[in-house]
Amino acid sequence: MTELRQRQTESNKKFNVDERDVKHMSSFAGVWWDPTGECKALHEMNQVRVPFVRDGLVTNGTPEYWREGQTSDALEGYKILDVGCGAGVLSEPLGYFGAEVVGIDPAEDLIKTAEDHLSSQNADIKVSYSCELIEDHIKKNAEKYDAVVASEVVEHIADKKAFLKSCVEALKPGGSIFITTISRNWFAWLCAIIFGEFILGLLPKNTHIYEQFISPSEVTEILEEMNCRTVKVIGFRYEFFRGIFKFQSNTSIEYGLQAIKQSNRKK
Ligand SMILES: C[S@@+](CC[C@H](N)C(=O)[O-])C[C@H]1O[C@@H](n2cnc3c(N)ncnc32)[C@H](O)[C@@H]1O
Repeated sequence: MTELRQRQTESNKKFNVDERDVKHMSSFAGVWWDPTGECKALHEMNQVRVPFVRDGLVTNGTPEYWREGQTSDALEGYKILDVGCGAGVLSEPLGYFGAEVVGIDPAEDLIKTAEDHLSSQNADIKVSYSCELIEDHIKKNAEKYDAVVASEVVEHIADKKAFLKSCVEALKPGGSIFITTISRNWFAWLCAIIFGEFILGLLPKNTHIYEQFISPSEVTEILEEMNCRTVKVIGFRYEFFRGIFKFQSNTSIEYGLQAIKQSNRKK
């Protein structure tokens, strides 16, 4: 672990990790699982992102909504890698649908919180965590997963192409990559940073940098270069007074994107 930290500090650029950002995220480790605390939005977003992944893999149809405590065997047999899993707020619910979930994150404190929360649940689910970078993980796990999830992560990554390339390498041909993130335009800036962080307090202040945001068409273009075909882009809308997320066709603020790794290699 110390070795990992040392390498990140010595050449964090090479490993595509922003130390300031990881430190900022780690400072919320103690409250990450509090559904009413600073990371509230991640908990509430599960209402849409859990079904976005589950139904994207299983039914391919319009996703249904998710409620806390929901469980089934819908994802039995699926291997899912949750990249940038934080303290496991999305990894765990996916595990309750029977998937084998591996969550990785560069923040040691968040991985510790994820492990502590998982063991406190005493649940019979196949979820495990590792403080690891995707670049290292793929060395032994190339083409292993049916799905790779990067939820609320790409907006924290400087070299998105390199990051997505590593994510795609972890996918089996025919597997799906699921991204959820914030689009880049003035309205997304207003909603996510000004309202989300500074007025409504849905997220900790200074969590996002506008220049790091990315639009669905940019993600699609990058994934296309990696032989992945985008099959779904759906918008998420937050209804502040009801504390709920809803699906919508407008993808100009927050969105989810699913792309499938094609079996035929690009020449
Ligand atoms: C907003 S949190 C999202 C956590 C989790 N995916 C969720 O939605 O509940 C962003 C996460 O990305 C992680 N992160 C930052 N840089 C990363 C990188 N280069 N590779 C993987 N994860 C990274 C942070 O440590 C943090 O846990």
